[in-house]
Formats: sequence, C-alpha cells, structure tokens
Amino acid sequence: MQKLIINGGKKLNGEIRIQGAKNAALPIMAASVLCGENIILRNCPKISDVYSAMRILTYLGCKAGFEEGSGVVSLNAESISCSEISDELMREMRSSIFFLGAVLGRTGRCRITLPGGCDLGPRPIDMHLAALRKMGVSIHEEYGALDCVAENGLHGAKISLSFPSVGTTENIMLAAVLAEGTTIIHNAAREPEIADLAEFLNRCGAKISGAGGGKITVSGVKKLHGCEYDIMPDRIACATYLACAASAGGELVITGCRPSDEENILPVFEQMGCIVHTVDDKIFFSAKRPLKAVAPIRTMVYPGFPTDAQAFVMAALCKAKGTSVFVENIFENRYKHVGGLTRMGADILVEGKVAVIEGVNRLYGVKTEAPDLRGGAGLVTAALAAEGTSEISNVHYIDRGYEDIEKVLSSAGADIKRI
Ligand code: EPU
Repeated sequence: MQKLIINGGKKLNGEIRIQGAKNAALPIMAASVLCGENIILRNCPKISDVYSAMRILTYLGCKAGFEEGSGVVSLNAESISCSEISDELMREMRSSIFFLGAVLGRTGRCRITLPGGCDLGPRPIDMHLAALRKMGVSIHEEYGALDCVAENGLHGAKISLSFPSVGTTENIMLAAVLAEGTTIIHNAAREPEIADLAEFLNRCGAKISGAGGGKITVSGVKKLHGCEYDIMPDRIACATYLACAASAGGELVITGCRPSDEENILPVFEQMGCIVHTVDDKIFFSAKRPLKAVAPIRTMVYPGFPTDAQAFVMAALCKAKGTSVFVENIFENRYKHVGGLTRMGADILVEGKVAVIEGVNRLYGVKTEAPDLRGGAGLVTAALAAEGTSEISNVHYIDRGYEDIEKVLSSAGADIKRI
C-alpha cells in the first residue's frame, strides 16, 4: 500500500503548472464514444480516473491511450462493439455514469450497474434516469443492473432539473447530441466543465448553445466528426495548491490556470490575509503569517464556493487566528477528513452540515488515511503545516484526481515523498 510521507514546516516557493481538469476530461472521454473518428485530447491529466475511463473505452471496443510520455490522449470509437459495461468497471469511479448517455446516444442501448466513486453520502442517479426516460429510453432494473433501451431512438425533450446536477446536465447533453430534434435543459448546472464539454462536442460538429448558463439547448445532428482539443485547466487542483501554500507559507506562481474560474475561491484566500494577483493564465500568490479566520463559507453550485474545495480550504484554516465556519450544502458526508485533521491537533466541531474550526497554534504530524479524494488533499494541506512527520495512507484516493501530487509539491520545496 502506498503512503505519502510529509515532513511539515517547509514553505512552498516556486512555480506550479496546473494539470488538465479531471471533471472536464472524464465526460469528454465518454463523449468520444459518440464520434466514429480520431480524437486527440491535449492537456489530459495522468490520474487514475482517466485510466479507468480508458479501460471502459477499451472494454467497449474503442481505442484509447496516452501518446508515449505526453499528456496527449488519442481516442477512436469507430469500432465500438459493445453497449454493456461490466460491474467491475462501473464501480471504479462515479464518472462511469457518463458512458450511459454516450453509449445510448451512439448505439440506442446500454446496460450498466450503479457507478462507484468516492463515498460522499448517497449519490443517486434518479435525475439522470428520469431525464433519459423523457428522451425515449425505457429502463429495466434486474439484479442491480440497469438495462436501458431507446427502441425508437432517442428524441429531444424539454427537461427541467429540480437541482442543477453537474453529472445529470452532462449526461443529458451526451444523450441529446445525436438525438432526433431539440433538447432544452432548464436549471442546468453552470460549472465551467460543462462549457468545456459543450465546446468539445461543438468542435466535433454538435449544436449546443447556452452551456455555462442555466438554459442549454442541444439540437440533434446526424453525425459527429473527429477533432483535436485542449482540456481546460483544473480549477480544483489550482485551488488545492493555493491552499497548500496558504497552509505551509511561502510564495507560489501558478501557471497554466484560468484565474476567472477561481473567482469563487480567491477572495477566501484574501480574507485569510494572503496576497493574490492574477495576470493572464497566472496567479501570483503570497501567504502571509498569521492566517486569519474567514467569514462563514457555504458550499454551493457554481458560481458559489465549490464543495470540492471545502476540505483543503478547511485544512488551511486550522492554524488561522479566530473561528471559521463551513456549511456543506452539496453532499451529506463530506467531512470525513475532519477525523484526520483533529488527530493532527485541529479544533473542529461538526454538527450536521456545519463545521466550526477554532484556529490552533500548532498541528502535529500523525499517521492517518485519505478518506476520499479531496479529503486526502486536505490532509496533505494540513500535514505541510504540521510539526514533524505525517504518514498518509490510502493514496489511491488522491491519485484519482491529482497528477503526481508529491512531485508537484516537492518541486515547490515541500518535503514529501511516496513510499
Ligand atoms: N443528485 C441526486 N440525484 C441525481 C444526481 C445528483 O440527488 O441523479 C444529488 C447528489 O447526490 C448531490 C448533488 O445532487 O447531493 C450534486 O451532485 P452532482 O450531480 O452535481 O455531482 P456529480 O455530477 O456527482 C460532480 C463532480 C464532483 C463534484 C460535484 C459537485 C464530476 C466527475 N464530479 O459530481 O467532483 O463534487 O459535481 O460540484 O464532475 C471531485 O472532483 O472530487 C468530485 C466529487
């Protein structure tokens, strides 16, 4: 079992280039199923969820792989030969669910089981299924498998979401691209990754407008063609490294990012007392001491404060002067990192959706385990500011979303290694 060993107390200084976005790469890889020609994706992160998506594509009879020594993925779904995904592959990650909309769109049928992924509380797919039913899909459940068939092909529909779910919005877009007629999604999720998926699909010949806003229109087309595409930068990885710098101290230049995507997070670092300056695709970041507590943070859908940044921003606040409060509104069970943080000496009280953090003067290195992807990143963030050595196990969770986290952080001066 791999572990991260972190000797805390070293400041971060230097430059970090941001990887491509996990949550854009995964739906885009699923989207490649809709197209029978070559697709080249640049800036694709080398993370375990991307390898899981490749295994699903290969299982379906498509070609998928990184070009040697690069972040370039080449995909070809011309010879798709199957419309069923094994339970083992479905359980590897939550994003396996994107293949439902894409395979249905391409072949008119798809058999899957429920997706896996980080345990953040219940993560139902009822909204995905209800939307697909409106588009002409009949769904039969037997022995935990979902048999989905569009007997007369998929057709456009008006779909009004009761909550702007990211995955549901993307799955509908995937199913709608080759459907007969027009699909309109009301109360669509507005996350930047949705606009990235739409941009990719439009480059392949799809007709999608409004993505990034609350109403998305997809006019079905007969066929998609291949394209070359640059995956957007990972706004959550960017925020993670800023939180690491806030926690450890020091000065970082983040390159290859989109500062406009960080506007829901940067003001929080400024409240902590950090100095943030953005120019083009760079963020100049200076962490001042001591950090200050911040006004209550409520996680919300975009453009609110992202639930994905809650754990590591909380970790950075453990040593801030004063009291900070989080209200987690998106997932029921997203405070699993709190146990590890309190073991390091943090003072955190969790009551339902609310976590109250009283800043402490010191954190201590301990043995702990990543509870999930972002929670694991939170423990790394705190360990960088802790006295002594931390050992973080269950690194496979962190590897789902961060490309070589230990190499990135050690290149900026952290004392971190993987054993
Ligand atoms: N929900 C339902 N029914 C559904 C779908 C969602 O009740 O059919 C609920 C969920 O249970 C949850 C809420 O709606 O309480 C939000 O879920 P959403 O569908 O928006 O999230 P997701 O598509 O499962 C994506 C990201 C997550 C990120 C959330 C929220 C990807 C691959 N995953 O998940 O990313 O936390 O949106 O922004 O895009 C991560 O990167 O660590 C991560 C978990």
